[in-house]
Amino acid sequence: MSNPLDDFLHASRTRLEAHLATLLADTTAPRLTDAMRYSMLGGGKRLRPLLVHATALSLGDTSERWLAPAAAVEMIHAYSLIHDDLPAMDDDDLRRGRPTNHRAFDEATAILAGDALQSLAFEHLSQATDLAVETRLSMVHRLAQGSGRQGMVGGQMQDLLAEGQTLQPTELANIHRLKTGALIETAIAFGALCAQANAATQDSLQRYGAALGLAFQITDDILDVTSDTATLGKPQGSDAARGKSTYVSLLGLDGAREHAAEQTAEACRALEELNLPDDAPLPWLADWLLGRNH
Ligand code: IPE
Ligand code: IPE
Ligand code: MG
Ligand code: MG
Ligand code: MG
Repeated sequence: MSNPLDDFLHASRTRLEAHLATLLADTTAPRLTDAMRYSMLGGGKRLRPLLVHATALSLGDTSERWLAPAAAVEMIHAYSLIHDDLPAMDDDDLRRGRPTNHRAFDEATAILAGDALQSLAFEHLSQATDLAVETRLSMVHRLAQGSGRQGMVGGQMQDLLAEGQTLQPTELANIHRLKTGALIETAIAFGALCAQANAATQDSLQRYGAALGLAFQITDDILDVTSDTATLGKPQGSDAARGKSTYVSLLGLDGAREHAAEQTAEACRALEELNLPDDAPLPWLADWLLGRNH
């Protein structure tokens, strides 16, 4: 029996994946394009695109304006994972149940595929003519902030510097907010921009995104300990092997679970301020993410 969440997930992912396939259909630089396609079209939960779409839909925008910003943020995410798995970073060999990009190709190709996905994200977003020029410019700015030094890349740097250290909870929260939260917040901001949300709505959504992003990475840390490689599609125990600072290493499993649940509740509280319609998909996603197994 299907339910509204499953229907939304299926329809949204199908539409996104068709769009991504057309973006990478050309045969320019075949080896580079193959490596880009390998990481863009090889599965994944598509959380960030789903958040763009769910936010826009929840605010009443039923157009397809969500597609280009959703594809752009997913390309940045895919690039971040390719680089995250490299030997110089987390040194992992498995992603989404397949060899990581540098294992399927080679390190240089993986670095370049990540670089090219980043450029393509901005190129595609800047050319999304179904969005007003001002909206596109705001999105380009938001994506640059969310992905760069003040966002994902800045968080990845701090994550690497923290290996083997014991951090304070606030320091760890800051790393998680940057390395993972920033792109999740960007995706939600994209949905709000698609729907031309007012400042108060954007503010509530920002708080939803901040809490959701933190809950998401805490759950990622928990699954790294409690799940298994086959279910995760990536190596279980990778964090402990690298001496990573995680919520589990800091608070223990129960403490981490409690914190993830608190942040999820916090996210749902922020949404209540918006009085969304009963069939709005945004509230479903927080609980879905807390209960996920990969
Ligand atoms: C994994 O992200 C890396 C983190 C930021 C925790 P996802 O769990 O969203 O990865 P995919 O795209 O579903 O594989
Ligand atoms: C990665 O965090 C966050 C990124 C910006 C890619 P992790 O290193 O915990 O992600 P996984 O567990 O390898 O997916
Ligand atoms: Mg990492
Ligand atoms: Mg990693
Ligand atoms: Mg992880």
